[in-house]
Amino acid sequence: MANSQPMIELRQLHRFFGTTRAVDNVSFQVQRGQVFGYIGPNGAGKTTSMRILATLDLPNAGDAFVDGFSVVEDPDRVRKRLGFMPDYFTTYPNIDVREYLDFFARAYHLYGKDRSRAIGRVMSFTGLAALADKPIQGLSKGMKQRLCLGRALIHDPPVMILDEPAAGLDPRARIELREMIRALANEGKAILISSHILTELAEICDIVGIIERGRLIAVGKVDDIQQQDRSPQNLVEVRLVGGVDGLAGWLTERDGVSGIHADGNTVRFLLRGDEAAEADVLREMIEHGFRVIAFGARRRTLEDVFMQVTKGLVQ
Ligand SMILES: Nc1ncnc2c1ncn2[C@@H]1O[C@H](COP(=O)(O)OP(=O)(O)O)[C@@H](O)[C@H]1O
Ligand SMILES: [Mg+2]
Repeated sequence: MANSQPMIELRQLHRFFGTTRAVDNVSFQVQRGQVFGYIGPNGAGKTTSMRILATLDLPNAGDAFVDGFSVVEDPDRVRKRLGFMPDYFTTYPNIDVREYLDFFARAYHLYGKDRSRAIGRVMSFTGLAALADKPIQGLSKGMKQRLCLGRALIHDPPVMILDEPAAGLDPRARIELREMIRALANEGKAILISSHILTELAEICDIVGIIERGRLIAVGKVDDIQQQDRSPQNLVEVRLVGGVDGLAGWLTERDGVSGIHADGNTVRFLLRGDEAAEADVLREMIEHGFRVIAFGARRRTLEDVFMQVTKGLVQ
């Protein structure tokens, strides 16, 4: 698989709106069967990149490819191979679930048996069969999301682009969405999925890319990003009796300590190393006369890394 052609590729993609660099030299690849989480705060450039992939907009420079076809040179071939789920849902009055899917099946030139088979396949996959004759307006947010996903799947494309599909879903609907996305990846589809909430995606993504202000600032396996500097770091929180005077300065002098932050009686910092390193620093603190009443350490999570990587740069 490593040598196979990527199913999705952004190559030095640029899209500017006036002075806003919405997408600024972004490159990444997604392979068959992979789920790529595109993570970044609001305004980072996720939707803009996805719209270019979906041939709804054009880059100022660079290119994007779906199954090897350029969105600039070959948009028709791209559209056939890609299902796009936008971050909004539009419908028409007085239309039911089956009619809605039928409409999109026709738009993809599916006729006769092919069309009824496609609608049946999508309703069964999304669990909408029992709601086939229900008007869309009456559906819950979760069911509308399923329908939106189903519509993007109607022509059984090998590539799926999902823009914030988990936004606004309740926890149960979110879990069900995850299962559907995992199932699609297991079928071999390449999936690009965005979110501004990292933890929403961490479990289902094989790779994540963190985008901010149009620039991709980190990309890799979830575990690798979690250990960006390839060595474990722990978040340590210490509470002292009285003040924390002197502790920050004392910590600054130590190897493996970074990101020191004092707040009231509490000091937080990042400590490189394993549990033995934690035990050592605690013992030395006490030996040095600091009056420790609480000492807690936990492995830095992806959310922590994300917060650190994107700190202060939200647009
Ligand atoms: N059509 C447009 N005209 C002008 N600015 C736009 C347009 N579309 C997006 N932008 C700007 O580009 C930046 C990226 O937006 P967007 O891709 O929607 O971010 P995200 O999806 O990550 O929240 C934002 O600053 C946004 O205001
Ligand atoms: Mg967006």
